[in-house]
Amino acid sequence: IPVQAFDLVIFGGTGDLARRKILPALFRRHCAGQLPQDARILGAARGALGSDGYRDLIRDALQNELSGADMAARGAELERFLARLEYLAIDAQARDGWAALKQMLGCPTSDRVRVFYFSVGPALFAPLAEQIWTHQLADDQTRIVVEKPFGHDLASAKALNRTLAGHFDESQIYRIDHYLGKETVQNLMAIRFGNMLFEPLWNSQYVDHIQITVAESVGVDGRASYYDKSGAMRDMMQNHLMQLLCLIAMEPPAKFDPDAVRDEKLKVIRALEPVEPHHIVRGQYALAEDGEGGDEDQSYRETVGDPRSSTESYVALKAHISNWRWAGTPFYLRTGKRLVARSSVINVFFKDAPHSIFGADAGRHANLLTIRLQPDEGITLKVTIKEPGPGGMRLIDVPLDMSFAQALGADIDGAPDAYERLITDVIRGNQTLFMRGDEVEAAWAWTDPIIAGWTSRGDVPKPYDSGSTGPGDADLLMRRDEREWRGINP
Ligand code: BG6
Repeated sequence: IPVQAFDLVIFGGTGDLARRKILPALFRRHCAGQLPQDARILGAARGALGSDGYRDLIRDALQNELSGADMAARGAELERFLARLEYLAIDAQARDGWAALKQMLGCPTSDRVRVFYFSVGPALFAPLAEQIWTHQLADDQTRIVVEKPFGHDLASAKALNRTLAGHFDESQIYRIDHYLGKETVQNLMAIRFGNMLFEPLWNSQYVDHIQITVAESVGVDGRASYYDKSGAMRDMMQNHLMQLLCLIAMEPPAKFDPDAVRDEKLKVIRALEPVEPHHIVRGQYALAEDGEGGDEDQSYRETVGDPRSSTESYVALKAHISNWRWAGTPFYLRTGKRLVARSSVINVFFKDAPHSIFGADAGRHANLLTIRLQPDEGITLKVTIKEPGPGGMRLIDVPLDMSFAQALGADIDGAPDAYERLITDVIRGNQTLFMRGDEVEAAWAWTDPIIAGWTSRGDVPKPYDSGSTGPGDADLLMRRDEREWRGINP
């Protein structure tokens, strides 16, 4: 179903995000027939480029970004898509371009949905919001989209929220966490709240512990200067892993609507206990002993060009949620770069049966629910059965295995990617998959003391081999609790 007519202005329209994510996503939705005929996309940036120059730039970007198969299937639409694009040279901090923008948008009379995508650094949020307000470019049908990083800490996130709130209502602000746009992440809610099977067991009485792993094989190449000021805690844990934790741990919302869902997520974040320093492990990738460091053969410190950098490229921690449902159930979260594989997995470990009727020889057997978010999306439930044969009642664990690709066939290939889903939700005015201001602040309020602790102790991350599963201390964190990590090599 096509979305309603819209004008989308991308500030930072020539930048990396616009070229690599936003415009390819719009192109795919165009090809899927979801963009109405008269939908317009306006790239805005400082350079003097002109609309033809912009179309050339985006043609190259799409040809680079989309796979050969994608282009073969959709290439015929490329020129029709490019015809939707216009370009405007505009300066966020000066008067240039704003009157022309107003004229192009037909303000104030246009009845189209107007979206301003702030695909720029947070330093420009305030000037852009101010300009939009001064030039009266916004009305009730206007939405603004902002990307992470939404702040660097609680104080800066609050300042950004205040700035935006000065000119826009919260219902107009769309803070993107692209993990929420992933099909399999949304599926977490379907699995939990669409099945009778799991929810009655989804609490500390039956769940021993939960592990969330987001492992990446890439390093920080090409993003060193941003990443070295950020680190895994700010770059991944405060947002993506936090969102996964919320979806796994939240109470059932009364309905699938933006505030009902976000209220429940917020309660999880606010119920998080401060993390004890000995429940966190920080790591930084080094070259493996054989000198093999992956694609570039560089250690983290070499990549960022600082031999003393103490920014973490890996973090693992044990979190507790203080509420009735989860009291006493630990959540182990870890994420890192240059690990042995790319794998995002949630493992829900159920407790042992309270009594074994088969005697001690049958061993300990507990159910494990594995939700694979990427790659090879699917679900596996480990169940215990009798080992076949005459040897008495011996038990073994076997997987009930479901891969989305097999179960759903072609349907999964056609599913929109995270940016496609999120951008169409913005146009439709659906905020369910976007972070509310109070959620972001609560996440920083939990993160800040952890980072402040490292700074005050002068903490140095533990080196780990590129291509490994992370620092040995992360295994120790689990062993102390008589548990072990599952997920990078499931
Ligand atoms: C981004 C982080 O938000 O998410 C990156 O800034 C990270 O460091 C990326 O690599 C991971 O996203 P995905 O979709 O590849 O899992």
